[in-house]
Amino acid sequence: MTSDALPAYDPAAEGARMSFDGRMSYGDYLGLDAILTAQHPLSQAHDELLFIIQHQTSELWMKLALHELAAARRHIAAGDLRPAFKMLARVARIMEQLNSAWDVLRTMTPSEYQLFRPALAESSGFQSFQYRMIEFVAGNRNMAMLGPHAHRADLAGPLRDEAARPSLYDEVLARLATAGFDVPPRARLDVPHQPDAKARAAWAEVYRDPQQHWELYELAEKLVDFEDYFRRWRFNHVTTVERVIGFKRGSGGTSGVSYLRRMLDVVLFPDLWDLRSDL
Ligand code: HEM
Repeated sequence: MTSDALPAYDPAAEGARMSFDGRMSYGDYLGLDAILTAQHPLSQAHDELLFIIQHQTSELWMKLALHELAAARRHIAAGDLRPAFKMLARVARIMEQLNSAWDVLRTMTPSEYQLFRPALAESSGFQSFQYRMIEFVAGNRNMAMLGPHAHRADLAGPLRDEAARPSLYDEVLARLATAGFDVPPRARLDVPHQPDAKARAAWAEVYRDPQQHWELYELAEKLVDFEDYFRRWRFNHVTTVERVIGFKRGSGGTSGVSYLRRMLDVVLFPDLWDLRSDL
């Protein structure tokens, strides 16, 4: 049985623009020439492109997460919590997007990674400026982590500036204080959040009576969501790393999996986890 060939469909017939000479097209608006020519494998290994794109897309999502976190912090500082809820919810979804991305990278075996591992030399996600900035904004401020950026004033400067301003959680503590809870500001901003008995007690009060403190209660849960997804990212990362390099040292020079397992113990918002034992 034969069927008559259909005439080729031309979307121009229904008005699609087909000529972009002198006009802004999709690729122009999105800067795709720059993005799609930014992959430069240094070996002949088939899987190196996967490795590069996985990191680049992660960095793009981190850029958006920073944009959302910065705006959420501004809204919280202004006492305008509802837009901040939406932004923090988006950040949690971004973390989940990054979590799903490991499924693609997991298809790379240790044998395949070894084919281009020498090309990376000493470069490592350990030197990710944006990852460190997310940690600093959230409040995990370890000034030792400035080291890999010391040769770049344009990167070390913003990290140092960030460590000198109230973290996202500092602004949340200020909201607790405004609501009448006895929660003093942290004495030092350039250190990781330490568990604080007064803040823990204040949160326990909020969680014992959510109806009375709904906005603070919702804000706390948004932060816990964010940290929950962040923890899953760390766990997926360390599991993928063990699967690909075992217990070898990292390209960044740390002990590798042992270092990353230690990072699993990082707690961004200790009071918000501690209060749960008090209810
Ligand atoms: C096969 C893939 C990967 C391997 C074998 C790997 C390995 C490692 C190792 C061993 C470290 C510890 C530092 C070091 O000594 O190098 C590390 C840190 C890190 N990696 Fe990966 N990684 C992989 C994929 C990724 C991807 C896709 C990202 C996404 C951006 C990423 C982001 C990071 C970050 C942000 C750190 C610093 C973590 C911290 O200091 O808490 N890694 N990686």
